Amino acid sequence: MGHTLREAVLKLFTDTEGYLSGECISDQLGCTRAAVWKQVTELRRLGYRIDAIPRKGYRLVTRPDVLVPDEIKCFNQSEEIGQTIRYVDVTPSTQTLAHGWAEEGAGHGALVVADEQTGGKGRLGRSWHSPPGSGIWMSLILKPTMPLMHTPHLTLLISVAVTRVLRQATGAAVEIKWPNDLLIGGRKVCGVLTEVRAEADQIHYCVAGIGINVHPLSHQLPQQLRSQTITLSEVTEQSLHRAELVAACCEEIEQLMQLYDEKGFSPVKTLWETYACMLDRWLTVHTATGMRTGQALGLDQSGALLLETDSGIETIFSADITLKG
Ligand code: BTN
Repeated sequence: MGHTLREAVLKLFTDTEGYLSGECISDQLGCTRAAVWKQVTELRRLGYRIDAIPRKGYRLVTRPDVLVPDEIKCFNQSEEIGQTIRYVDVTPSTQTLAHGWAEEGAGHGALVVADEQTGGKGRLGRSWHSPPGSGIWMSLILKPTMPLMHTPHLTLLISVAVTRVLRQATGAAVEIKWPNDLLIGGRKVCGVLTEVRAEADQIHYCVAGIGINVHPLSHQLPQQLRSQTITLSEVTEQSLHRAELVAACCEEIEQLMQLYDEKGFSPVKTLWETYACMLDRWLTVHTATGMRTGQALGLDQSGALLLETDSGIETIFSADITLKG
């Protein structure tokens, strides 16, 4: 009960601009004023600044930048995505936790979030630097209805959703580098790693890992990564609250998945191409079969990249890409 009441008190404070009397809160939530006071004390201990004025009541003034479930739920208005949350302060990788939870039967939209990862995983076997308090390290368990061969659509859809959220939150020109690197001014601000478990042609579940660099982390970064990486706080004056960003990502992913179910890949493809930073630019593409240079034309219907080279148009399914110039 304590936990649920805290969630309800916090939600009420979040949705109310002015002061709320203890009586009003206890009436609305069906609890005693002593119970309200207990929750206010507990919230203050957790870092929430709550003003109290005799005869007027309480008002939430500032909130801590934490990723705990109560905080995310205050903002998340989606129906399914991010409504069930597992939070840990520190873990090797939220991907691993999410796979374990999915195997135990977690439903569509279940979310794992951590404040710090000690063994964060990136694409192509790379590691992902995830220091405490600096970013959003989250993995979503998704159970899409698309056939296995269309899984690349999901990765592109998630990149589009997060791009839209980050653009909205910061006003910065966030761009996508195929397939799913999010860049600001050519430097990486977010990476997406989708891992699928499937049987025959049927997707059993997908774990979509999203890593967003929010607060400065350069002093903790290996030297060679510093010039290639950027954080949201470096490009905006807006105060950034990680739980709100997580909630916005959940809502946007849910909306785009609904759009995909109704209209197929086309609208997502168009949005992806709008945000892509690489169309018509010269690229070097490193694939398992070697390296080539060409100009990106766009995506084909499978989500693969179409590259115009000297020897014709090539379809790139998996690669590491370097933008020229
Ligand atoms: C990439 O750009 O290489 C993908 C990076 C994905 C990082 C995220 S952080 C949350 C989730 N847990 C992980 O270990 N990796 C993903």
